[in-house]
Amino acid sequence: MRKILLLAALGAVFATVLVAHAGGASSGPTYYRDVAPILDAKCASCHRLGGIAPFSLTTAGDAKVHAAGIVRMTKAGLMPPWMPGNDSAALIGRDVRRLTPSELSTLAQWTAAGSPAGNQADRRSTPVQAVALSGPGKTVTLAPAKAYVPHAEGGGIDDYHCFVLDPKLTHDAYVTGALIRPQRTGMVHHVILYEAAGAQATAATQMNAAHGGKGWSCFGGPDLPVNLAGPGAIDRLGQPPWIAAWVPGHTTNALPAGTGVLLHAGAKVVMQVHYNLIETSGPDRSQAQLRLRPATTHLTALETHLIAAPVELPCPAGTTGPKCDRTQAFQDEVTKYGATNAFIPTALLRLCGKTLADYPQDVGDGKKITTSCDRPLGAGQTIYGVAGHMHLRGQEITVTLDPGTAKEQTLLHIPAWDFHWQDVYYLQTPIKVGATDTVRVRCTFDNSAADQPVVGAKRLAPRYVLWGEGTTDEMCLAMLSVATG
Ligand code: HEC
Repeated sequence: MRKILLLAALGAVFATVLVAHAGGASSGPTYYRDVAPILDAKCASCHRLGGIAPFSLTTAGDAKVHAAGIVRMTKAGLMPPWMPGNDSAALIGRDVRRLTPSELSTLAQWTAAGSPAGNQADRRSTPVQAVALSGPGKTVTLAPAKAYVPHAEGGGIDDYHCFVLDPKLTHDAYVTGALIRPQRTGMVHHVILYEAAGAQATAATQMNAAHGGKGWSCFGGPDLPVNLAGPGAIDRLGQPPWIAAWVPGHTTNALPAGTGVLLHAGAKVVMQVHYNLIETSGPDRSQAQLRLRPATTHLTALETHLIAAPVELPCPAGTTGPKCDRTQAFQDEVTKYGATNAFIPTALLRLCGKTLADYPQDVGDGKKITTSCDRPLGAGQTIYGVAGHMHLRGQEITVTLDPGTAKEQTLLHIPAWDFHWQDVYYLQTPIKVGATDTVRVRCTFDNSAADQPVVGAKRLAPRYVLWGEGTTDEMCLAMLSVATG
């Protein structure tokens, strides 16, 4: 194998020498003819001026400077970033985030040959740009009244801020697409739009007014009142429904064709922005555009369905003290989040048919603690989209349809969880499920002493970690975008 590679490299060098003598005509790949189409289609959405990547890859010069890195990162499968594993269902947008074997070898050959530019006239591609919303309907632009200067409390590097936006809807409408425009791309790490309807709209308005109309700090979620007794609330854990999400380099703004998320008359849109302050801070006024169609249009309404598993992460072996006690962890949540929210860990055990006996105290070094929950979806549902959510101790998440049966199918598997690259994925082919089908969410966490989250440049001490709102608490959550019927 080595020998063949060496021969190939020698051949490539030889070819470049020949090309130099022949005055440009090359049989090997050139930037303009062979490499630009790949970088333009699969890298430029982030690697362009004003994009979220640290450098551009839109010219022959850019590409040559970064040639070695390009080969290293693409070979390792680290670029373009695509979190779902190959065993996930076919997801929309996947193909622009994966390189084919022939694209990989083109990049490798071109680099080995010294990154020749070739003939500019051969360029047939242009770098992809951010796309606008399209299709029938009207676009409304929502922005906070004032710019906000993010700041991390306690010397951390993250700020989560919730802004209340008002689409001023007098009638119900469908959102068929959402285009989120972060103002400072260097600092905005993700954006989630939630619908706050009814009592949650009132609460959001009040919370906003209590913070001088500037929104509030909202790690984990918008922190609107939870009514666990309301219809379907236990399946959503009181979280408001998602309208749309944006992460760096997010490619799909439109919901799947023929679908929409219903936005109720009078509802507010709560925009959660995660600011990452590693490099800079400054005033930000990120905006969201929604493409709206009247609710009378014949569209399939998508709803968020949450499937959550209990999170019971005992301390690793050798760590003791009150913080390693579950009762203490529960009391801490009562103090931080109130008695109703603190009830969620117990509710999840019950909902998933589990007891604490399913979560033994002895977790060894705590590096691999798993949990799961199986839930029926209900008759006549069609799954259109899927997302996973954990916090900083999350390692791996899998969402499976009909686990342990002949029909078993992985919807989403994220083998190396990264809190900073979260997205909602839509299935290329929606899946219709029946009353007997179940969905399993399964998460793996690392609660070892060495891998505790770092807050304000200090690594936290290990503790018994329960499901909770804070980023340093945990969640194991699958979000399904489903339609009834
Ligand atoms: C979704 C956005 C996105 C896309 C698409 C993307 N990149 Fe990146 N790339 C980034 C970001 C952001 C970084 C900075 C490092 C990080 O945050 O992981 C980066 C870093 C890199 C680096 C430097 C990594 C290092 O550690 O030295 C290389 C090389 C690279 N990308 C190549 C590519 C190539 C080649 C493609 C296309 C085949 C591509 N990227 C597609 C976002 C993207």
